Amino acid sequence: NDKFNIAIDGPSGAGKSTIAKEVARILAIDYIDTGAMYRAIGYKLEREGINLSDRDRLKQILDSTEIDFEEGNTILDGVVVNDQIRTPEASKMASVCSALPEVREKLVALQRKMAHTKSVVMDGRDIGTNVLTDANFKIFMTASAEERAERRHKELIQRGQQITYDQVLQDIIQRDYSDTTRKLNPLRKAQDAVELDTTGMNISEVTEKIINLVRCGR
Ligand code: C5P
Repeated sequence: NDKFNIAIDGPSGAGKSTIAKEVARILAIDYIDTGAMYRAIGYKLEREGINLSDRDRLKQILDSTEIDFEEGNTILDGVVVNDQIRTPEASKMASVCSALPEVREKLVALQRKMAHTKSVVMDGRDIGTNVLTDANFKIFMTASAEERAERRHKELIQRGQQITYDQVLQDIIQRDYSDTTRKLNPLRKAQDAVELDTTGMNISEVTEKIINLVRCGR
């Protein structure tokens, strides 16, 4: 049995998803973007105007929500929502919703199921510490807040959104704060994770580091 899992955690904008996608492509295994799952839930709760303190209604909505990945697309209840979940509002909503126990419970169960039968690269905040505690490889990816803001700003501008660098930096600092201080599965480095600071590194340099790690460890 040569099934194996790679967990990549770190703050927003560290380059996790770009790198994870590359690593998955090179190793020919699946990539699971758990941030996209929190974004999809956040987007739906916002769109349906759900009052987040109405726990019964929240549970009801979660029970009737389906999230899946197909050919790199994020599918929410059968509809592709790639663009809708990438706005600054959706980012904030994802962060807010990710602190709700009901939301985490549902998504973590789904994530474990997705990784159960096949090799995956999974990225997020609590993969190494909670979702896949026995992952074969754990990477904690960081970069300075300024460099992360610069990368995210470029990406948003390319998507045609009007936002300043300072606004993006403020959002990142705010999200780092809520992701690391929330009570439930906060962002932190797993004891057995390899820390990788990507400040000043390009995509292929970071990808190569991880591929080497995996090839040496198998
Ligand atoms: O990684 P991304 O920026 O797409 O994640 C959006 C938000 O979802 C994060 O700010 C975080 O609050 C939440 N998240 C989480 N646990 C994960 C992945 C994402 O709480 N495993």
